[in-house]
Amino acid sequence: MSLPAVELRGLRKSFGDTPVLRGVDFEINRGEVFALLGSNGAGKTTTVNICSTLVKASGGQALVCGFDVAHQGAQVRQRISLTGQFAAVDGVLSGRENLTLMARLRGLDRRKEVVDELLDRFGLQEAANRRVDTYSGGMARRLDLAMSLVGRPEVIFLDEPTNGLDPEGRLEVWRIVQDLADQGVTVLLTTQQLEEAEKLAHRIAILHGGRIIASGTLAELRRLFPPPRIEYVEKQPSLEEIFLAIIAAGAPGAGEGGGAHEDGA
Ligand SMILES: Nc1ncnc2c1ncn2[C@@H]1O[C@H](COP(=O)(O)OP(=O)(O)O)[C@@H](O)[C@H]1O
Ligand SMILES: [Mg+2]
Repeated sequence: MSLPAVELRGLRKSFGDTPVLRGVDFEINRGEVFALLGSNGAGKTTTVNICSTLVKASGGQALVCGFDVAHQGAQVRQRISLTGQFAAVDGVLSGRENLTLMARLRGLDRRKEVVDELLDRFGLQEAANRRVDTYSGGMARRLDLAMSLVGRPEVIFLDEPTNGLDPEGRLEVWRIVQDLADQGVTVLLTTQQLEEAEKLAHRIAILHGGRIIASGTLAELRRLFPPPRIEYVEKQPSLEEIFLAIIAAGAPGAGEGGGAHEDGA
């Protein structure tokens, strides 16, 4: 009898008169990596922000670990973490200081142990005492992910976690997400890249026009679309191709002086 980790029912959100979410429904099971795929402006961040209690929905319902984000925000916040598109780390502080601060915010005991374990796990021990604004993009994102794991949240929201990273940084983040999946953490990941969703997610939902227009495993999504059909079309040559072919063949009449045309004037 395990409750879904996240459950959205008819979720709606408008900014002013502009509807962004027009009734979004999906469920994420415990231990699942779920990708919300959509183009820029589709409403992915809005969805994640509602789930993490940062933004109020205009209608419908969002439950996280069975708690309603609208009425039970504190219970929801205890169980989640959010890693945004923009690293939430403080550049003036060191990696260790950032993690320690987060551990304190989360009210953890044995903070040093927790912080050291995360520094190890994310390959940040060597850089632990350096200011974060000297970190590479990949390192900063790794720290950001490490921050989101402080206190072992049940559900992790990763909003375009590879946005702006170079290919190497992207692979690192992929490895970390796979690691989380292996440990049975529930992850809601947003992305604009089909490849990323394919690579990481157990299930994928496509957000478009304010609704989920398709969802399922990759295999299920593939079945929704008809297999590609290869058609053979007789191609008519272009004038240029005809011209070039004639020249190449040295066709009679194509050479100089072979024509009987009249020059006016
Ligand atoms: N606070 C806001 N005020 C007004 N419009 C907003 C606000 N936040 C987002 N929007 C609009 O909502 C739409 C969806 O935005 P967002 O959820 O950020 O999309 P995505 O994350 O998929 O790129 C966009 O058109 C965006 O301009
Ligand atoms: Mg976004």
